[in-house]
Amino acid sequence: MIYQNLISELKANILYVTINRESKLNALNKETLAELADVIVFASETEEVRGVLLTGAGEKAFVAGADISEFSTYNTEQGEDLARSGQVNVFNAIENCTKPFVAAINGFALGGGLELAMACHIRVAADTAKMGLPEVTLGLIPGYGGTQRLTKLIGKGRATELITTADMITADRAEKIGLVNHVVPLAELITKAEEILNKIRQRAPLAIAAAIRCVNAAVNEGVNGFEVEIEEFGKCFDTEDFKEGAGAFLEKRRANFKGR
Ligand code: COA
Repeated sequence: MIYQNLISELKANILYVTINRESKLNALNKETLAELADVIVFASETEEVRGVLLTGAGEKAFVAGADISEFSTYNTEQGEDLARSGQVNVFNAIENCTKPFVAAINGFALGGGLELAMACHIRVAADTAKMGLPEVTLGLIPGYGGTQRLTKLIGKGRATELITTADMITADRAEKIGLVNHVVPLAELITKAEEILNKIRQRAPLAIAAAIRCVNAAVNEGVNGFEVEIEEFGKCFDTEDFKEGAGAFLEKRRANFKGR
């Protein structure tokens, strides 16, 4: 797929997506968001894709936020539209995608950039990365789900402090408070993300999808996650993958999952 602001490449069942606006620290403008929405649909619909590795071009930034130059004259209605369409088409779409997204945070992940990383299922950060939600320095608040996802990931007190002070934190601090799963030297960042995705791609795809739906249900208001788990667990039994996985175990061989 050819995009203007993304590099997207499918290799060995992993879709590598790089946000490629290095001169603007990979800030999310409208075109980039539209291309991200498109690539998420591609990942969801393409059987060969077993996971997505999302990163930013260059060594300085993952994504330094939404593109501030695009919304400086917006009013209430335009602001709501911006947040709603972004949440629906990109941020919630990533969270609800049943192919796991791993964010490889290679530098600044600020505002919409941190929100993008938080929408991903797993986060790995370079030890040089810096993270924060600085929107209140602009007279704004996070609009792409940041107030909700940060609170769920690190708890109310810490989320309130990060959002209201606009502090930037280091990767080590982010790991300590559960905002990222792993911190590695920048040179090992992609390898670490690949290591995780390479494990996942060997597992049963429909079970991975079911697991993502259940984990999401645990943090979504008004959904009984235990009930979702019971249903998803039951559905696994009717998959070819379960028969293959259980059969392979009993026959002492490696399972070959088809995602059916
Ligand atoms: N939106 C639009 N452009 C952005 C941007 C954003 N969120 N973040 C960086 N850029 C642009 C800068 O305007 C600059 O463009 P220019 O060279 O055409 O002037 C370029 O990216 C490089 O950024 P610069 O600020 O010169 O780099 P720096 O090393 O001095 O500072 C940051 C790096 C990340 C601290 C700084 O760019 C920053 O604070 N960015 C905004 C972060 C933010 O508030 N994000 C939340 C948005 S809601």
